[in-house]
Amino acid sequence: MKQTLINKAMEVRNRAYAPYSQFKVGAALLSNSNTIYTGCNIENSSYSLTCCAERVAIFNAVANGENEFKSLVVVADTLEPVSPCGACRQVMSEFFTEETKVYLMNNSNDIRCVTIKELLPYSFNLND
Ligand code: THU
Repeated sequence: MKQTLINKAMEVRNRAYAPYSQFKVGAALLSNSNTIYTGCNIENSSYSLTCCAERVAIFNAVANGENEFKSLVVVADTLEPVSPCGACRQVMSEFFTEETKVYLMNNSNDIRCVTIKELLPYSFNLND
C-alpha cells in the first residue's frame, strides 16, 4: 500500500499547476476506509491564493466524506525529503492522529516518516 501511495503522489505531482514557482508537489492520502485521495499544488497569479498539494489532498478527501487517515505521502524535487509549510501542518493537525504516518519524500526516493506531533508540537486544536 505504501508503494501505491508513493506512485500516486508522484503521478499527481505531474499535474501540479505551478507556472510561477515551477516547484511541483504531489500528495497522496490514504483514508481509514482504504481510499486514496490525491492533490497537487495549484498556484494563482494572485500568489497568496496558491494552495499546497497537501491541503488539496486533505480537502479533496474531506469533501468526499472522509476525515480519518492512515497515511500521507508528499513528494517534491528537493535535496532532502520535502518539508510541509506551516499552514499545511495546521490543516494536518485537524485531521491526523499520532497513528497517521506522514511520509515526506523527494524524487530520489529519500523518505522521512514523521507524525503530525513532530511536525507541529503544541498545536492549536479542537480541544482549545
Ligand atoms: N508547496 C506545496 O505544495 N507543498 C509543500 O509542502 C511546500 C510548498 C507549493 C506551494 C507553491 O505552489 C510551491 O510549492 C512553492 O512554494
